Amino acid sequence: MTHSIQTPEDIEGMRIAGRLAADCLVMVGEHIKPGITTAELDRICHNFIVNIQDAIPAPLNYRGFPKSICTSINHVVCHGIPNENKELKRGDIINIDITVIKNRYHGDTSKMFSVGDVKPFAERLIRITQECMYRGIELVKPGTQLGDIGHAIQAHAENNYYSVVEEFCGHGIGKVFHEDPQVLHYGRPATGVQLTEGMTFTIEPMINQGRRHTRILSDGWTAVTKDRKLSAQWEHTILVTSSGYEILTYRPEDESFPRIS
Ligand code: MF3
Ligand code: CO
Ligand code: CO
Repeated sequence: MTHSIQTPEDIEGMRIAGRLAADCLVMVGEHIKPGITTAELDRICHNFIVNIQDAIPAPLNYRGFPKSICTSINHVVCHGIPNENKELKRGDIINIDITVIKNRYHGDTSKMFSVGDVKPFAERLIRITQECMYRGIELVKPGTQLGDIGHAIQAHAENNYYSVVEEFCGHGIGKVFHEDPQVLHYGRPATGVQLTEGMTFTIEPMINQGRRHTRILSDGWTAVTKDRKLSAQWEHTILVTSSGYEILTYRPEDESFPRIS
């Protein structure tokens, strides 16, 4: 199997797309409060991406997806569809997933938000899931195998009595939204594709409070935990550099974790 390698010009394009996706995620954070609907969050992001960033929201009409962002609340694992009737309420946890296209390049990133005060067990799931993502990212460098990354993520989740969703994974990204390789968030060390300089892909673990199993609602998109317990997800787009990694969707709030290794 071959995987696209970005040229220096591609990398500059990916940096720009990544920064726009990160900026949109920072911007929408100001609007997360009880009473706002997920459809309003979608409109805010859509208008920002199209009118301010002069970019394209990649999810809109992607394989029939009807909205510009994904909004996944509580037991929704991923691909939640923004809805006029879905208001955020105090105690909810929500993942917002933004993908923008700028000059054909994609930047893909997501984070968890707490709506008002949330229960300590929910905050813990959010924190450990972010740590899972970072544990994967810190291994990125030429020569690392994807199984090393999956294993590190799975070990941290399971050491904390959580489970890893297997039906969805990270992915190569560039001028194509989803391409090879598949970046599984579980696995065995010293297995799988070897990373090389110039690859760009996402790491986006979905970690469940209960069992790992998911199902898709009748809308054809919304993935939920079968046991209806909480799920959390964080995502960054990463470049493999000669010495390690660069996070292309870095935000100021990631400051405790290095942007570049
Ligand atoms: N942004 C998601 C990902 O991380 C994909 C969303 S596809 C959509 O890969 F169609 F649901 F928007
Ligand atoms: Co992604
Ligand atoms: Co995404």
